[in-house]
Amino acid sequence: MDKKRLFNISWEDFSELNLPEKAQYLNHNRRPFHVLMAQQFDREMLDEMGSLATRIRRIAKSKAGMGFLGSLLNHKRAMLYFTQPSSRTFLSFYAACQILGLTTGEVRDASTSSEMKGESREDSVRTFSSYFDLLIMRTQIEGFVERMSWLLTNTERPVPIVNAGSARDQHPTQALLDVYTLQRSFERTGGIDGKRIAFVGDLARGRTVRSLAYLLTNYGNVKQYFVAPHQLQVTQDILDQLDSAGVEYEIASDFESIIPEVDAIYMTRIQDEWDKTPGESRAIDVSDFYFTADHLKLLRHSAVIMHPLPRREEIAVEVDSDPRAVYWRQVRNGMWIRAALIATLFRLDDEIRKYYELNMR
Ligand code: NCD
Repeated sequence: MDKKRLFNISWEDFSELNLPEKAQYLNHNRRPFHVLMAQQFDREMLDEMGSLATRIRRIAKSKAGMGFLGSLLNHKRAMLYFTQPSSRTFLSFYAACQILGLTTGEVRDASTSSEMKGESREDSVRTFSSYFDLLIMRTQIEGFVERMSWLLTNTERPVPIVNAGSARDQHPTQALLDVYTLQRSFERTGGIDGKRIAFVGDLARGRTVRSLAYLLTNYGNVKQYFVAPHQLQVTQDILDQLDSAGVEYEIASDFESIIPEVDAIYMTRIQDEWDKTPGESRAIDVSDFYFTADHLKLLRHSAVIMHPLPRREEIAVEVDSDPRAVYWRQVRNGMWIRAALIATLFRLDDEIRKYYELNMR
């Protein structure tokens, strides 16, 4: 039987598949080739990715360790193709590349490229890929990372693509860093299994929620709560995935009653860049879904507050100094998990583990 590889399937057939089916074409021997969606990761991969990130961050503490890490990929180049506004994810990937010694090039604005001369976006990206060994892409065009992955795999020079946020659909590396943050936060309280996690805010259009809700299906007895005004509630596609994974969830609109119930609260911003008519989401009163300083009293002692950032008013600044607010740590975790992911794509995980065993024990 033909292996499930993107060069063995037509674009038409591939695009018809559901997400778990697509994921099988993106991994080669349980290792991602392209990283496009949360569905590519199982429990074992998540555990390995987290432990690799922690090893990298420990190795990086010394000059000798940084020397080792920085030599791993100094013969490779990565392109950061970020045509949708981004600074934190851009810099997080940029820093992750630097840690591993990768040289980077960047496109931030498609209007300065030959796309303006009438070149198709596909041709532009294919041209850029000729100079690089890895493409890290953020775009607002639905399905474009998938299309490019299929297209590049079917050229004589297939270059891996990492999805750094695509339209409203997925943000797999944000979900990886969120899981890594949960792993670390619950290290002494039995890990992620059995925890209750609330998503709050714009759940209809937040791609980080879509990816993380799926990754959490890899854990046992996790209950998910979706807390939002009805106009911004979680969409059926996510619930269908939870149903088919047999995951327990609750749809809620009374934020204050959920706060004492849960082990983690994942706050999100209103994604008004997706409003169909300007100002549409401003008409929705979301103030009941803000985490205020008073809410800290309701929150369990061992619980954590997360946010993919950028934040607006949904978390009061006074909350930042509470030890349960982990969103700044989450940012830092993102850099390490992205370094771990890139190292894994280039099959360097064993080498890093060996270095760790020899030098860090
Ligand atoms: C998120 C995104 O871009 O989807 N941010 C991020 O990657 N750090 C969330 C957001 O923009 O609200």
